Amino acid sequence: MEKKFKRTLVTCALPYANGPVHIGHLAGVYVPADIYVRYLRMRGEDVLYVCGSDEHGVPITIKARQQGCTPQDIVDRYHKIIKDSFTGLGINFDIYGRTSSEVHDRNASQFFRKLYDEGKFITKESEQYYDPEAKTFLADRYIVGTCPKCGAEGAYGDQCEKCGSTLSPEELINPKSKLSGAEPVKKKTTHWYLPLDQYETWLSQWILDGHKEWRSNVYGQCKSWIDGGLQPRAVSRDLDWGVPVPVEGAEGKVLYVWFDAPIGYVSNTQELLPQSWEKWWKSEDTKLVHFIGKDNIVFHCIVFPSMLKAYGDGYILPDNVPSNEFLNLEGDKISTSRNWAVWAHEYLEQFPGKEDVMRYVLTANAPETKDNDFSWKDFQTRNNSELVAIFGNFVNRAIVLTHKYFEGKVPAAGALLDVDREALAEIPSLRASLEKNIEGYHFREALKDAMAIARVGNKYISDTEPWKVAKTDMERTATILNVCMQICADLAIAFEPFTPFAAEKLRKMLGVCLCAGTDHRKGEQQTVNTYKEGECAALHTVSADAPVPASACPGYGKCVCLSWDMLGNTDIIAAGHEVGAAELLFAKIEDEAIDAQLARLDAIRAEREAAAKAEAAKQVTPQKEECSFEDFEKMDIRTATVLEAERVPKTDKLLKLTIDTGIDKRVIVSGIAEFYSPEDMLGKQICILANLKPRVIKGIESHGMILMARQNDGKMRFITPQEALVNGAEIG
Ligand code: MF3
Ligand code: ZN
Repeated sequence: MEKKFKRTLVTCALPYANGPVHIGHLAGVYVPADIYVRYLRMRGEDVLYVCGSDEHGVPITIKARQQGCTPQDIVDRYHKIIKDSFTGLGINFDIYGRTSSEVHDRNASQFFRKLYDEGKFITKESEQYYDPEAKTFLADRYIVGTCPKCGAEGAYGDQCEKCGSTLSPEELINPKSKLSGAEPVKKKTTHWYLPLDQYETWLSQWILDGHKEWRSNVYGQCKSWIDGGLQPRAVSRDLDWGVPVPVEGAEGKVLYVWFDAPIGYVSNTQELLPQSWEKWWKSEDTKLVHFIGKDNIVFHCIVFPSMLKAYGDGYILPDNVPSNEFLNLEGDKISTSRNWAVWAHEYLEQFPGKEDVMRYVLTANAPETKDNDFSWKDFQTRNNSELVAIFGNFVNRAIVLTHKYFEGKVPAAGALLDVDREALAEIPSLRASLEKNIEGYHFREALKDAMAIARVGNKYISDTEPWKVAKTDMERTATILNVCMQICADLAIAFEPFTPFAAEKLRKMLGVCLCAGTDHRKGEQQTVNTYKEGECAALHTVSADAPVPASACPGYGKCVCLSWDMLGNTDIIAAGHEVGAAELLFAKIEDEAIDAQLARLDAIRAEREAAAKAEAAKQVTPQKEECSFEDFEKMDIRTATVLEAERVPKTDKLLKLTIDTGIDKRVIVSGIAEFYSPEDMLGKQICILANLKPRVIKGIESHGMILMARQNDGKMRFITPQEALVNGAEIG
């Protein structure tokens, strides 16, 4: 039996404030969470929607150093960019806080201190790299050296970005501090650890026995962590950016970013609801859901729950942790450092008014069960042939015809025919499926259900052809358009979670508003969300502590206030209701816009390939062992000219060359067919090693060897004199 909760607390992974968010973040975490929250709100559920910036951690300090500013400057900049991107996409958290806030500093400190006082940590002494010149411990990222796996320079102490190997600083060849360039030395340091091993049995019962319904990727990762045996995890670091460890003698130490960040969910709740935050975090009536990306699973399913368990005091655990796989871009892994991404803030600038298109495409392609790919062509196709051609087209025809034949007043329906009844009957079952899918975190499928309603409408209007019927039968036309108006209203409800801007526009066209439930953006007071200006105030605040019913909307009864419950009803909009003018819900996206995006990505790809080539070209094989002049003199190297050239049958690599060496005419079999065709070689002057012992290759006796230069990419080129020489000229 599904447990009945009184309220839902939805958190989204706190993005690191060291760069903007991209479509991978949106598809993995924020768009699905937003769909879920909007849906619950429309159902009248009490929901709290919490997010914020994760403003600690080593990468932020590195970025600040690179840019010659302070870490605070970095997080201030990106906090704003990220926050605005979310707002721009219609993702409206009740609070978007920051882990550099005072509330968080106090809360995270206090959290650590309680665990510390109660002996929930163990301490361990370890040796860590220390920069003797900068007089500071070095995070792994602050140590660079040669990669032991691939030989690349500039590998980090935790990872080589060249070959992707995970490293530890000990493995680096020639390690250097990034701060001073000094060679780091090992120095003893003490840190606090959360002994996760002590929580293993409990975790196993809670997750492996108790949450078999979690997505298989999430459950599977938890299982492999737990089965692999958990180790104590350090919760502090030697660093000067973060929440200071609140213990005497811990100077120069801060809380590990993955210790403080999830506490940020709680701190942000406290900041918004200083009086009532505890009911969200400490009541069994609250359903807690963490939306995260797959790289966050261990922290949200194992580490943070263990922290909360250790803390006690009634903290609840997540009921589910829907986590997505990764989204790729045009077939390549999204990468911030390689600038291979579509950035949310840039998208919003370049595609104004198309916020919903991105939401729609990212949901339709959401990497829910496996990694998935975003491509601009698919983006265009989904817009043009789904949003425009189906959803938009139906709505437009329905509203235009209502104006044309009935002066914009919804006509009364007469007797329904089978075709009407069948179309209308599809909607309640699609609604049921949609609900089941959203509640089960299957947002792709849920979107298909919503889109299926648009398909029903589009097919219905095409099949019934009211524009033809109107020539002979106005009563029948009235019935058809009445049905169409009901389906338009269904769409305005069903699409509110997915494409809220279009849903709002559609409601405006229909002259209706929406009671989208309540939100907590105003803090302790609740806010009833309605969208029609005029009779229904746009935002209307009531001081209530329970979910506010649709009837609390000031426009209730005066205008049509859509609510989720109405979805599938056959009389949502009454006859006589006046609808507004038709506007295009979605606009076609032309090739130029897509080509511009592809050109931008091509340029990045080309730049990257050129850089990689230049890098590879720099690497030359080391010098061979010494040889004597006598060794060299033994070799008879001279010029020659190719007289005949042909492929050696049944081989890919071999050419048979007949050459004039000045001394004689002879045959050399050479493995250059990969690089040259017989025609390429004909008449060319080359250099040969003439006195190489003859060898039989594929049945042909070969007398000598052609001198070739091997380049780094493996490509071979023959050596030719820079001016024509006599054949047989000795080289040495
Ligand atoms: N900043 C982390 C990331 O982007 C997510 C932190 S989630 C929290 O991977 F739980 F720690 F807040
Ligand atoms: Zn490497």
